[in-house]
Amino acid sequence: MLLCVGGGIAAYKSCEVARLCGKAGAELRVALTPAAQRFVTALTFQALTGRAASTDLFDAQQELAAGHIALADWAEVAVVAPATADLLARLRAGSADDVVTATLLAVDPSRWLLAPAMNERMWGSPATVENVRVLRERGARLVGPATGEMAERSHTGPGRMSEPPEIVEAIAAALAPRDLAGVPVLVTAGPTREALDPVRFLSNPSSGRMGFALAEAARDRGAQVTLIAGPTEVAPPAGVRCVRIVSAQEMQEAIDDALDGARAVVMAAAVSDQRPAQAAPQKVKKKEGEEVLRLVRTPDILAGLGARYAAGARRPVLVGFAAETEKVEEHAREKLEKKNLDLIVANDVSARDTGFGSGTNRVVVLDRDGGRAELSGSKLAVAHAIWDRVRDRLR
Ligand code: C5P
Repeated sequence: MLLCVGGGIAAYKSCEVARLCGKAGAELRVALTPAAQRFVTALTFQALTGRAASTDLFDAQQELAAGHIALADWAEVAVVAPATADLLARLRAGSADDVVTATLLAVDPSRWLLAPAMNERMWGSPATVENVRVLRERGARLVGPATGEMAERSHTGPGRMSEPPEIVEAIAAALAPRDLAGVPVLVTAGPTREALDPVRFLSNPSSGRMGFALAEAARDRGAQVTLIAGPTEVAPPAGVRCVRIVSAQEMQEAIDDALDGARAVVMAAAVSDQRPAQAAPQKVKKKEGEEVLRLVRTPDILAGLGARYAAGARRPVLVGFAAETEKVEEHAREKLEKKNLDLIVANDVSARDTGFGSGTNRVVVLDRDGGRAELSGSKLAVAHAIWDRVRDRLR
């Protein structure tokens, strides 16, 4: 990958981007604009990457070592961080007056990943808004900007460069294989809520993150994703069709509506197994003493799909999740068979660094042919590993 550094104060964070990419195994070269070199030095990147950085289009030695066209041909992805207002304007115009713009002009914009960084008023200016729109239309991807405190402390708003780990994740996404191109898939995420009355419900602490990571990974691999999500704090990924539901019954209906043609159904949602037998139409008043709450079963959506598509030719690949606190694999294997699934993803939700609400996960994937794999890492990395297995079963 090629890291192009623009001239903004966020350039110091690009050093960390370079370090993290190297750690993740990327082959990395760096180019700096003249303005970037007033914030960080080529020597910094040379120390981090073990290779000389490109700084001067007219330096005979540099052009001999790695000419800007050779650099453009070589890069699978070109990351611009920070993408300053000036750099965005010059990229839109097609300038080629320094090593960064001259190289990028020879790279297809669909391989650009821009991490904008500027003051919030510069970001909101009509010129920048138009430049960004045009660059997106040409196929460039963006990561960020984030909202928060600016270098000028009194300013806050959108314009901060995304944090390095987020940029690295976006780079990984840009490099994802397009092996699900055009494949319709259905993913569920988050909890359901089962109403007791208009202001109370039964639910669970699912954050939706694992399901959202699955939707994001499928999107990056080219799938047509329908995401059916319960109530979550976290926002769903952009670029997927997201249907919001509240109860298990609504999830069932949304799935029935979206199922037609789906080649895979991945049920990462933590669906409530039971609901109150009756939901009171008005807020229930406090009573003295004990009370008994009568619960009834919600439909087991996934088991319903497993039964409906017993072995039909049009059967989608069915993937379930099993959140367990003990005998994790044993219980998961039972569910795989009982619900007639292709794959089940088992995780131990009693562990602290995995499961509900956490950014990372450690799971065991079991398949109907007896296969078993242990996966761990960020939820996005785990999601990609799950899609690898779904893709193999689609063939
Ligand atoms: O049986 P258990 O609830 O542990 O199974 C979990 C799997 O079944 C998950 O994939 C979940 O999304 C799905 N499920 C469902 N409908 C329910 C309960 C769980 O589809 N009512």
